[in-house]
Amino acid sequence: MKYLAVLGRQPELSVAELESLFFDVRKISEKLATFEMMDSDKNCAEETDLISRLGGSLKLAKKLDLKPIEFLANLPEGKITIGVSDYSKGASKKSVSSEALKLKKILVRHGRSVRVVENREAVLSTATSLHNGLSGKNERKVELIKVNEDWYKVIGVQNIDAYAERDRVRPARDSKVGMLPPKLAQVLINLCGPLDSNSRILDPFCGTGVVLQEALLMGYRAYGTDISEKMVEYSEKNIEWLAKSRRNSSESVFAVVEPTTAERVPRKDGRTSGLEEGLGRDFKTRFKIQQGDATSFQWEKPIDAVACEGYLGKPFSKIPTEMEFKEQKHECQAIVLGFLKNLSKQIKTGVPVIIAAPSWLRENGEYLRLEILD
Ligand SMILES: C[S@@+](CC[C@H](N)C(=O)[O-])C[C@H]1O[C@@H](n2cnc3c(N)ncnc32)[C@H](O)[C@@H]1O
Repeated sequence: MKYLAVLGRQPELSVAELESLFFDVRKISEKLATFEMMDSDKNCAEETDLISRLGGSLKLAKKLDLKPIEFLANLPEGKITIGVSDYSKGASKKSVSSEALKLKKILVRHGRSVRVVENREAVLSTATSLHNGLSGKNERKVELIKVNEDWYKVIGVQNIDAYAERDRVRPARDSKVGMLPPKLAQVLINLCGPLDSNSRILDPFCGTGVVLQEALLMGYRAYGTDISEKMVEYSEKNIEWLAKSRRNSSESVFAVVEPTTAERVPRKDGRTSGLEEGLGRDFKTRFKIQQGDATSFQWEKPIDAVACEGYLGKPFSKIPTEMEFKEQKHECQAIVLGFLKNLSKQIKTGVPVIIAAPSWLRENGEYLRLEILD
């Protein structure tokens, strides 16, 4: 079955994410890629939930077998809402609006009640699609995407509100540590490739726990370590918040995975951290957080995948001197290489390791990068 993805702001990363999960991925323009998917690739119960696992795609759509008017005429009874986005070369707000009105006219002639979502441009923004309910969940609210001669039906729109909540409402935040946006954490996890639903993902630089949080939301088990005791506490606090907020939300809760042995680590002071309170029984068994230096720590097995954002160096408030840059690069490089050496002795061949590493944009427009490829 052929699918279409509207790519996010870093299209190369979005394509890499799709390539790691699906097959026959083709980037057909700066904003679009097509791909093929089998039922077993979906890794979630509903096709419409797939978008919530892909950090790099703004919309997902499925190719229509029927002509658009035939597809629309077959929608269940009742008022229908249609949005149209046209990514074909030369498409304009005017051409799309007239296409949408043409569809509406035919449908009205056949006795259907129709609302057309107004276009401000040739394509509807993610926010417009989302806020008009065109996210693929309601059978009578549909967005169609046209790309030259092909028509697709949207099956998912990135829930920008849910990402913003996960990003901004978490209780323990530290802008100096550099918190990873949840979407990027999902991309890092997906770059590990298709994983079994019970896989255990290690983040050895877990900081405030964004990778752990996203791994849990995607139904995986999460194992975080960090050199800083403060960060270990932050991660715990954030996961606790996440679990509680999910319990009260109508959004689908963590995927149900059979519990394994309990893995809670008592805090040094012997108190429980509150994670025990009111959380689902199997949730507690699905994550673990410990304090440890990634260059020497002995992790507990199993480790099925590693996804992390390594140490990024200290935050600068003004443009650093050449010397300061070099020092930072040196420090970050030593940590990443030390970590890789330590990790290599502890994982099996074939375990995917995805690391986001820093690079520094210099005034001359060039990037200073870590030399870690060996
Ligand atoms: C850029 S932050 C990671 C932020 C994290 N992705 C988040 O969502 O908050 C890097 C983290 O690496 C930790 N760190 C630095 N050196 C370390 C080391 N040698 N071993 C383990 N953690 C280390 C820092 O304490 C910091 O929390």
